[in-house]
Formats: sequence, C-alpha cells, structure tokens
Amino acid sequence: MSTLMSAVNGWTLPAVPAGAALHPYDLRCEHLATPQGIATRAPRLSWRLASDRRGDAQAAYRITVRAGGAPAWDSGWIDGEDTSACYGGAPLASFARYTWQVQVRSADGGTAAAESWFGTGVLHPDEWAAAWIGHDPETLPPFEPPADDREPRSVRTGSLPAPRYFRRVVDLSPVTAVRVACTARGLYELRVNGHRVGDGELTPGWTDYRYRVPYQVYDVTDLIGDGPACVGAVLADGWWSGSLGWDGRQQAQRYGRRPELLVQLVADHADGSRTVVGTDGSWRESTGPLRYADLLMGEWYDARLEQPGWDLPGFDDSSWAPARVVDTRHDVLVPAAAEPVRVTEDLVPVETRRDGDGRTIVDLGQNIAGRVRLTLRGAPAGTRVTLRHGETLDDGGGLYTANLRSAEATDHYVAAGRPEETFEPRFTVHGFRYVEVTGHADVDLVGRAMHSDTPVAGEFSCSDDMVRRLTSNIRWSQRGNFVSVPTDCPQRDERLGWTADAQVFLRTACYNADVAAFFTGWLADLRCAQTAEGAVPDVVPHVMTERHGAPGWGDAATVVPWHLYRVYGDERILRDSLPSMRRWVDHVERHNPGLIWRDRVGSHYGDWLQAGVRTSRDVMATAYFALSAGLTARAASVLGHADVAERYAGLRARIGEAFAGEFVSADGRVSGDTQTGYLLALAHGLVPDELVPAAVGHLVADLERRGRRLTTGFAGVGLLGPVLSAYGHHDLAYDLLHDDRYPSWGYSIKRGATTIWERWDGWTEENGFGPVAMNSFNHYALGSVGEWLYSGVAGIGQEEDSVGYRRPLVRPLPGGRLRWAAAAYDTPLGRLSSRWEISGGELTLEVRVPPGALATVHVPTTDPSSVRESGAPLAAAGIDVIESTEAASVCRVGSGRYTFTASWGR
Ligand code: BGC
Repeated sequence: MSTLMSAVNGWTLPAVPAGAALHPYDLRCEHLATPQGIATRAPRLSWRLASDRRGDAQAAYRITVRAGGAPAWDSGWIDGEDTSACYGGAPLASFARYTWQVQVRSADGGTAAAESWFGTGVLHPDEWAAAWIGHDPETLPPFEPPADDREPRSVRTGSLPAPRYFRRVVDLSPVTAVRVACTARGLYELRVNGHRVGDGELTPGWTDYRYRVPYQVYDVTDLIGDGPACVGAVLADGWWSGSLGWDGRQQAQRYGRRPELLVQLVADHADGSRTVVGTDGSWRESTGPLRYADLLMGEWYDARLEQPGWDLPGFDDSSWAPARVVDTRHDVLVPAAAEPVRVTEDLVPVETRRDGDGRTIVDLGQNIAGRVRLTLRGAPAGTRVTLRHGETLDDGGGLYTANLRSAEATDHYVAAGRPEETFEPRFTVHGFRYVEVTGHADVDLVGRAMHSDTPVAGEFSCSDDMVRRLTSNIRWSQRGNFVSVPTDCPQRDERLGWTADAQVFLRTACYNADVAAFFTGWLADLRCAQTAEGAVPDVVPHVMTERHGAPGWGDAATVVPWHLYRVYGDERILRDSLPSMRRWVDHVERHNPGLIWRDRVGSHYGDWLQAGVRTSRDVMATAYFALSAGLTARAASVLGHADVAERYAGLRARIGEAFAGEFVSADGRVSGDTQTGYLLALAHGLVPDELVPAAVGHLVADLERRGRRLTTGFAGVGLLGPVLSAYGHHDLAYDLLHDDRYPSWGYSIKRGATTIWERWDGWTEENGFGPVAMNSFNHYALGSVGEWLYSGVAGIGQEEDSVGYRRPLVRPLPGGRLRWAAAAYDTPLGRLSSRWEISGGELTLEVRVPPGALATVHVPTTDPSSVRESGAPLAAAGIDVIESTEAASVCRVGSGRYTFTASWGR
C-alpha cells in the first residue's frame, strides 16, 4: 500500500562540491532548497561559497531570475561579499516556476555560477478558488466499530472517527504544466492518478491553526496526462481534531470537530490560459480501509476494505457521497514556511525475539520518532496484527509503556489474505525503539525515522566512544522532537512545543541542522499567541494549557530570534520579532517594577528537573529578565532604532544593578549557592567584575564538594561547558562530560540510552524507572551540552559581535580523555571545520575557513615558538599572528585549509 518503498539516506553532512577556485553552491530561497510555494514578493535568495584558495572572497555577485525562459530579474553585478539578496525583479506570478542563477566573481576576476529554482504559491489572496470540504455526517452513517472484544480500547470507546477518502475526476488536457496547492485542517495525503504526491509526512504540519494554516504546492505535471485525471485525498484528524497532549480528544477539538480538505489545481495551457479547479461540492467521499488514525493512539487499517482504483479516473464512485462544503474563507492560509516532515532513515532491527505467548519483540537498536513498515506473509484474510511501541523494556523483557501515559501508540492491521502484504501507517507517529507484534508470526519490519527534514548542517566526532554516543543521542533527540514543531517528547500524550526546551536547545540545534526555516515558522506561531499583555505561552503552538509567562520559557521570544539572526544573518527575523521581544520584556517589567522578577505573572518551573537542589527561582527569573532586555536592546540597535536600543540597554543595566544588589553578596556568592545560579549570573554578565573570580570559585567549589558532579536542570545544563571553559576550568567541564555516575549523561549511556533522557533519574539503580507521570527517554533539553562539543571541545564558533559567521572563532580545547576531536559546520558563508589530534608530544590542528570569513584561530600549545603551519614557521607561512600567550598562538586567517602543528607537552 505504501509507495515509499525505497530506503532513505540517513543524516550525514553532505560533501562540499570540489573546485579550486571560488564557486557558489547550496542555493536557497527563503532558507529552503527548491521550495515550491513561495508567496513573499521579495524572497531571499542565498548561496554558500567554496574555494581551495587561501584568503579568497567574493568580490561581486550577480543574480538572474527567469520564468519560463523569460527574464524576470537581473541584479547586475553587485560589489561585495553578501551571500544573500532579496528578489528585486518584476512582480512574481502565482503558481509559476522561476529558475535562478548566481554568478560570483573573485578578486582576480574569475567567475563561477550555480543554478537553482523556486516555485510560487498564491501571491494574491483573491486567486483562491477552492472551498474547504469535509464529511457530511448526514449522508453516510457514522462509522460503527465492530462489536469485538479484541477491538482496541480507542475503538471500543468510540472516540476515533474514520478518516475519509475524497476524489474528483477532472479533464484539464492539453496542459503545459499543472500545479496543485493542498492543505487540510487535519492531515492529508494527496494522490493523482494512483500516485502519491510529494514525500512529505503529516502534511500540512502543525501551526497555530487559529491564525495560520500552511499549504503545500506540488508540481503534478508529470502525473497528469491527456484525458481525464483523478485527484484523490485521504483526510485524517491529526493535530486539528485528534488527540492532542494529555487532554484527549474533547479539549483538543477546540481547533475543530472534523477534518477539512482544500485542494486547488492550476493548469497552464499552451495558449497562455489557465484553468483552476478546486475542492467543492462536486467532490465525492467515502470511508476506506483506514478505520481510524490518530497521532497519539495509532492507526487501524483493514486491508479487506480497500477499494482498488479509488484514486484512478475509471473508478465507479456511485456509492460514495457528495462532499460537503464547510467553509469558503482563505484568510488563514499561509505557504508552508519550513521543510516538511519526511522519512529520513530506515532502521533494520538489531534483534527480533519471539516469546512463548506468540509475541514478537523487535529491537531497532535506536529510539526514534516514526513508524514501522511491516511485511507479513501467509496471513489468512481477517488476521489482525497488532503493533505496540515502546521506548524501552521492563525488567521482564516485555515492552515498557507506562511512561506513554494515555498515548496508546498501537497500530492494527487486518490482513486481506494476500500471500505477502505490507502495512505502513501514515497519519500517526510514535516515539519508540521496541515494537511488539502480535497476531501473526511470519513478519518482518523496518523502523522508519521521521522528522522535519531540516538539512544537516554540522557534525562532531572524537576519539571517545561514550562522547560519540552522547553526540549521537543528542542528534537523535533533535530528530525525534523536531516534528513540525520543536516538541518536548515524541512518545507520551504530550508532544508540545514547550518554549524553554526549544530555547535552551537552540544553540545545539543550529549546529546540527539548518533550522532557519523551521524556527521562522515557529516564531510566527509564538507571536500569534502572545497575549495582549505581552505574555508568551509556555507551549507554542498555544494549545490546552492557559499557562504563560514562565521565566526561561517566555524568554524564547527574545532568545530564539536573536540567536537565529546571529547564526543566519537574516535581519528580517529581528524585524518580524522586535515588537514581540519588546512586548515580552515590557510585560515582565510592568509586573516587576523593582526589577527583581519575583511576581509570578504566570507559571514558574524554575531550573526544571535539576538534580537534588533548588536554584532560587528569583535568581533564575531575574537573570532571564536581564538577558531578554539586553537582547532586545541589541536587536533594536541592529535595526537602527537607537532610541529603543537605548531604552532597553538602560533597562538591562538597571536589572544588572538590581540583581547584583539583591543576589550577589560581597564574597561573590549568588543567592541559593547552586550551580545554575552561578552559571546564569556568570553567563549573562550579572556578577560585578571584581567579584567574578570569587563567583567562579564558588561554582567550582560546589562541583568539587559534590565530587565533581552536576546538579543542573534545563536552565543551567547548557551553560556548564561554556562557563567553565570561559574561566579556565575546562578540566572540570571534561570531567562532567566523561562522568558516568548519577547524575550525568554517561549514566544514561551506561544504561543503554540512545537518546537524551528527560530527567537525570529516568532510571536509577536504586529506584528503577523514574516517575511514570513524567519520564520520557527522548527529550533534548539536557542535551544542550551539544553546543559546547562544537564550540568548546572542537572549538568552532564565532566572535561575540560577529553575525552569520563573518568572523569565525576557532578555539579548540584539547583535554579530558580525548586524543582527537573534530567538527564541521556549514555557516551561511560555507564550511567551517576544525580537527585536532594529539600524538607523540605534538598537537595537529586542521582548520578550514570558508571564503569571505576572517577567522581567529587559537592554536593550543605548551610552547608558542614551536607552532608551524604546513611545516613552516608562521611568519614564513604568511600567517598573521595577533597574540602569543603561554598556552596558544592566536592567528588571523582568511579562507582556506590550514594545518598547524605545535608541541604539546602536558
Ligand atoms: C515537559 C517539559 C516542559 C515542562 C514545563 C513537561 O511536561 O515535558 O519539557 O518544559 O513540562 O514544566
């Protein structure tokens, strides 16, 4: 039944296209590779650069855009190093394809070019012609679940309605091109002439449907021949009307009661005319083999009920009912901003075990978000195969599902009786490593990992197995939780866009993947949901809970746009967010005129899931208040609003004074004396300069007192590495990294973790499993140590005031048990990488700097006079040394590859 039979690639950093001279590659439009539904009038076009030559930079660029062969824009040659520009040509037309080329010129006059394309969606709202259609409960009897004891719980309670199948035959021929815009309030799978359209999963994705319903655009020219063509769609509940969070279906139905579909086909003819066909009352609908589909509960597919050919023109649909037009408004439609969810990797089981009770337990060896593709052989018609999913096993070797709470995460397949059949659910997603199969023994399966297909942007590796496993666990938790929105967890009845989880993990996330488009869409939902007062909801998209305004959670409103701007250099992110940043800070200030954030204007979770301590909530809140005020000032200044910048910089300074006065004692202690308290105060510059050494001393003393063990929760954990190494204590940071006692990352790894656990005590020797009410084994927040692996251990980052990695900072930290470490990262300019290795008293540091960047490279050494580049003393090698200390030679280098060597006598 699935057309997705091919294996997919996995998640690795692509190679940079080779070429000695300066050349552009990896072209993007609105941060996306070849997007189809662009609907901004001046989309941002960007490219990366590669060159093997040292000190290379782009001297000028020229963009040309063509539509169907006709020129639409020629920027002319523009001097400078910018690697992005907004389209400035003739007004774009809707549903058209634009090819674009960028030519770059280097200082020596050489040129090179690369090409890409983008397609447009609906640029003028009055071009929408399609209506929203849905199931008319009057015309077909409601789905009656068969009375059978073995029916799944959700079916017995009658709570899950059957997905609907829609179809319509059109004759558009002869055509030169056909595009289709499609969306659902719910989830859709679109089909044309028997073929599935696109490779997106869970489309259209989850946004704040009250304000924004994303649509996708597809080019279906190749699927529509001459003569009648059938357009079909399967429509399921998804986030719109299915189970959402812990509220079950009733509350969740606040979006809508039943799913709705909208499809608009636009056919171009040779004479330049266009035919538009949209969903309306002439479409027909029916139930089908899919008896229910729910994101949390799972899916039930009865292959005996298949209607072969239902998505082909010749099918007899006289028994189908007319669809009902349920709405004709288009004001909430927006083009999908980000990459869709896709299946990105197939996992072959590492172990399959059958027990005496006819259960097959399959271990994928990796905790993922996704589903399985099941193949069964020789099952008589009517055989029900049940698939249950779990993240781990209980002590008896059975599936452990207590931590899923009310999420059933169970799929059922009823066999048609063919010699071999395959089943792959399509409108559900589970968080799991293990699958229990009952009902038939002759089965095979593969795990299919699904997530928002954000392009891989970085890679970290090193000589230590456990740290490599940690890196992998962080990446898998990112993959498992970036499913349309950044969620807390993929398995239990929650899966919400908790704002703190997202903001603390953002720095790590940006290193692993290009999340510019992903977070741009999420920020739009954050802004929509901000209250009139300026409070930011604790979950975005805002659903279920009325909670908002929590310190560290609401601050996602400032942290996320600012960090995205710094990484991707797209000022529009700040422009769109500055009003929201200001409103958030003003809201906190209004409630806390004394500038110590004490007033619980909303929820307060403190340093969530810290280990055995209680960080002062006022310290944490006020530190975030200072951070947010400071970031708002910086954003205003970037955008040229000097007066606004001054107001928030002043506020930031006053919060700083208040913080120091209230929380920092004369001996440098920060109230509460906890690691997170010190980390926040030091990281955000809230300790008066003269007391910094003492505060660092107290932080170190706390770690020492605990036998070099951490106590940090969500708010503090990502700051451990950066703060400790900034103050010269990277030995301590390494000890925490390598630790495998409770609480540590290593402790979970010793227990076999393949993703980051929600809590340090997800499982302990003393107590076994942690509290079932909240014990996810796939939660990325505590994985925010990933940032330090890239920026500290391997040492790739950018200077504090650099934007878009124009001025990279390469400052590796050899240490701990590591013999070598390496990281590569695709900055907006091109690839930046570092690899160090220690062997035989010598350190080798290989660095790659992208064209146009001017990097500061710290070459660590015990003897600065020993530093060489490609075997030559630095001066002879033409390397600019800007500083020499006892521990490093600091050089300034332009693009190219460098191999430094230095004595390493420690
Ligand atoms: C979520 C967290 C979230 C927290 C807020 C939990 O249920 O899983 O990750 O940030 O609630 O308290």
